[in-house]
Amino acid sequence: MVTREQAFKLLTDNVKNDNLVRHCLAVEASMRALANYFHEDEESWGIAGLLHDADWEVTRDAPEEHAKKVVEWLEDLDLGDETINKAILAHNHFHNGHNPPQNTMEWALFCCDELTGLIVATTLVMPSKKLDDVAVENVMNKFGSKSFAAAIDREQIQMCETELDIPIEEFVGIVLDAMKAKSEELGL
Ligand SMILES: [Fe+2]
Ligand SMILES: [Fe+2]
Repeated sequence: MVTREQAFKLLTDNVKNDNLVRHCLAVEASMRALANYFHEDEESWGIAGLLHDADWEVTRDAPEEHAKKVVEWLEDLDLGDETINKAILAHNHFHNGHNPPQNTMEWALFCCDELTGLIVATTLVMPSKKLDDVAVENVMNKFGSKSFAAAIDREQIQMCETELDIPIEEFVGIVLDAMKAKSEELGL
C-alpha cells in the first residue's frame, strides 16, 4: 500500500493550487476521524481522502477521467490498493462511470468530501475566519441556507444518515473537529 509520504508527494507533484491541497488535507483528516469512529483502518481511509482529488487539475476538462487518473498513477507506481482505489473511483461515480459507493469507507469519502467544502465556506464568513470559532450550529445554519455556497450538494452530505447511520449534526461535529485539529495546515 502507498505510504502517507508517497501519497502526499503524488498529491503535491500534481496539484499546484494550495487550496486544493488543503481540501485534500481536510478530507484526509475527516476520513481518519471517521475511520476511528467506525474502528476501521485509519491509514487507508486517510490516504484515500488525501489522494481523492490528486488528478483534479489534470482532468479539469475531462470530468469522466477524474479519479481514474489517480488510480492509474498508483498502479503505474505499483502502489495500487484495491480498497483505496475503489473509494477514490466511487467518489466521482456520477462522471466516471464507476459504481456508486458500496461500503462504509466509500460512503464516508463521498459524504465528507462535500461537507469539508461547506465547513470552509462557513469559516470564511465568520468575523475571525477561524475554524476555532465555528460551531456545529453555524455549519447547520449554512447547510439549511440553500443559496449559500449553492454548488455544495447538501443531499450528498445528508446521505451520512442513510448510508453511515450517523445523524447529520453528529457527522458535522466529527468532520468539524477533525478539521479544527488541523487548522494550521488548512490555513484556517
Ligand atoms: Fe473529486
Ligand atoms: Fe474533493
